[in-house]
Amino acid sequence: LAGLAQAVQPNVSVQQDSVAAKFLTILYGSQTGNAKSVAQEFKAKLDAINIPAKIVSMADYKQKQLKTESHVVIIVSTHGIGEAPDDAVALHSFLAGKKAPRLNDLNFAVLGLGDTSYEFFCQTAKDFDKRLQDLGATRITDRVDCDVDYDADVAAWFDTITHQVKDELIAKTSQSVIPSLNVHPSAVVASQYTKKAPYTATLLESQKITGRDSVKDIRHIEISLEDSGIQYRPGDSLGVWFENDIKLVDELITALGLQRDDSINWSGDDYSLHDVLVNKLELTQSYPAFATKYAEYANNVELNALLDDKSVLRGYLAQRQIIDVVRQYPAKVTAQQFVDTLRIMTPRLYSIASSQAEVEDEVHLTVALVEYDAHGHAHQGGASSFLSTRLDEGGEVNVFVERNDNFRLPADGNTPVIMIGPGTGIAPFRAFMQQREVEEASGENWLFFGNPNYTQDFLYQTEWQRFVKDGVLNKISLAFSRDQEQKIYVQHRMLEEGAELYQWLEQGAHIYVCGDANHMAKDVQDALVQIVIEHGAKSEEQAEQYISDLRRAKRYQKDVY
Ligand code: 2AM
Repeated sequence: LAGLAQAVQPNVSVQQDSVAAKFLTILYGSQTGNAKSVAQEFKAKLDAINIPAKIVSMADYKQKQLKTESHVVIIVSTHGIGEAPDDAVALHSFLAGKKAPRLNDLNFAVLGLGDTSYEFFCQTAKDFDKRLQDLGATRITDRVDCDVDYDADVAAWFDTITHQVKDELIAKTSQSVIPSLNVHPSAVVASQYTKKAPYTATLLESQKITGRDSVKDIRHIEISLEDSGIQYRPGDSLGVWFENDIKLVDELITALGLQRDDSINWSGDDYSLHDVLVNKLELTQSYPAFATKYAEYANNVELNALLDDKSVLRGYLAQRQIIDVVRQYPAKVTAQQFVDTLRIMTPRLYSIASSQAEVEDEVHLTVALVEYDAHGHAHQGGASSFLSTRLDEGGEVNVFVERNDNFRLPADGNTPVIMIGPGTGIAPFRAFMQQREVEEASGENWLFFGNPNYTQDFLYQTEWQRFVKDGVLNKISLAFSRDQEQKIYVQHRMLEEGAELYQWLEQGAHIYVCGDANHMAKDVQDALVQIVIEHGAKSEEQAEQYISDLRRAKRYQKDVY
C-alpha cells in the first residue's frame, strides 16, 4: 500500500492535456474516509460512461492549478465545530485568502458530507461553495449538503452532474488522449468487506478496564477476524454495526401506543415495527429532522416553538434520545408514520487499538460505555452498550475497516513520534506502539495520556510500563485530572515539557492527537502554538505557520471525535 498520495499525480495531466482536452477534476477533502470513498465512487461512475475525470486529494492538489481547470467538483466533509478535514485545510485557507485567483472560466459543484446534529453542518462545503462563486466561477448545479445517511443524496447529485457535463466533456475530448489517473486499484480495495457488505465477526473478549470506583466505564474489546482476510493498519478505524436494545424498543413502542407486530413497509418489503426499530433505525441519538417530522403528529405548542430556533432545538436534542422526545410530547401516529420520522442507522467508527503485526487476525477496540440517567430514566449509547453489555463472548457483530490515511505512522521508522491521547484517545497509540515494537523501529516514542484518576483510569497501564521497560516507549507524560484540586490536562503537561517537545519537533518528530474534538483537540493545538512561540522564539503568526507547515507535511495528524 504505497498510499494514495503517490498513486494520484494530478500535475502529470496538466502538461499532457493540451488546450483541447477538458476533464472533470474531483477534488476531495476527507477526514475519516467517507468523502474519499464517495469521490472514488463518482470517478468509477464517470469512467464507466467515458467521461474523462481525475480524482485528487486536496492535500496533493497544486492550488495554482485551479486557474487552468474547466470543471471541478468538490466533495468535502466537515468536522467538530465546523472545521475542514486536515487534507482540505490548505486549499480552504488559500481560497479564503487574498492570493486566491479569479476563476471566471471554472465550472464547479460542491457536495458536503456532515451530520445535522452539529451546529456547523457542512460548513466547509458551504465555505468552498460560496468562495468559488465569489471568485467568479459558475455552478454546474447547486450544492448538496448530506446528512449521515447520504447514499440517496449522493446518487442524485452524481446523476445531475453527469447529465450536465456529459455532452461538453465527451465532445471536447474525443480526439485527445486523457491521461489515466485512476487510483491504483490495489490501493483502494483494502478488503472485500465494506460498510454495506460488512464481515460478521465474533466477539472474543470484552473487559472493563477502568476501576470499580471510576467515573467512567471503558471496555477493552477483542474481535476475531478469522478467515476474513481483512487487513488493517495502525490509524485505521473499525466500523461497527449494532442493534438497538430490545428493552428500549419495547418502551418506545409502548410510549407510542403501538404494537410490536405492526407492519412496516421498508424499501418494498414487509417487516414488523419491532424489527425495524431494533435493526434499521437510529434511536439513541436525536436530530433536527426527526423533531421536525415528529412535531407534525405531536401537535404541541411547546415542541413547535422549539423548532423555531435552530440552536435552541439543537441544545434540546443534544440531551435527548428519541424516546425522551416521545415521552415528553406524546403523539398520535401510526407505526409507518413514526418509522418515517426516523433516520437510518449508521455504523459507529472506533479507532483500532491493535496492530496486526502483533495480534494477527484480531482487532482490538477501546470503547467508552455511554450510560447515564436523565429525564427520569436510564440511558445508554447504541453501539457502546451493544458491544459492552448486550454482546456475549462468541456473539456476532458486523464490522468493516475504514481506512484512515490521515493518521499514519511515519514511513521511516527512525522518525520520532509524539502521541497525545487522553481517554479513549489512547486507542490508536496502542496500535502504534505494537507496530513500532514489532518493526523494531528505532525512532523515539513519547506518549501523553490523561484521564480522571490514576488508580482507576490508567488505561493499559501494565502495557505502557512494559513498553517503557523494554525501551520501546521512551517517555510517558501523565495528566490525571482529578487527583488534585486543580485540573491537570494533557496540554498542561505539554506546556511543562515545552522545551523538549519543541526539540523533538525540530528533530523531525511527527505529532498525533486522538480523542475529544470539542475541547481537548483545540486546547492541545493552542498549547502547541504557545510552545512554538516560547521555545522557537516566534511570533504568534509564525508559530501558526509552523503548525500549519507541520500539518501540510503530514507531521501533525488528528483523529478526533
Ligand atoms: P475531566 O473529566 O476530569 O475534566 C479524558 O476524558 C480526560 O480528558 C479526563 O481526565 C478529562 O478531565 C480530560 N479533559 C476534559 N476536558 C479537557 C480539555 N479541554 N482538554 C484536555 N483534557 C480534558
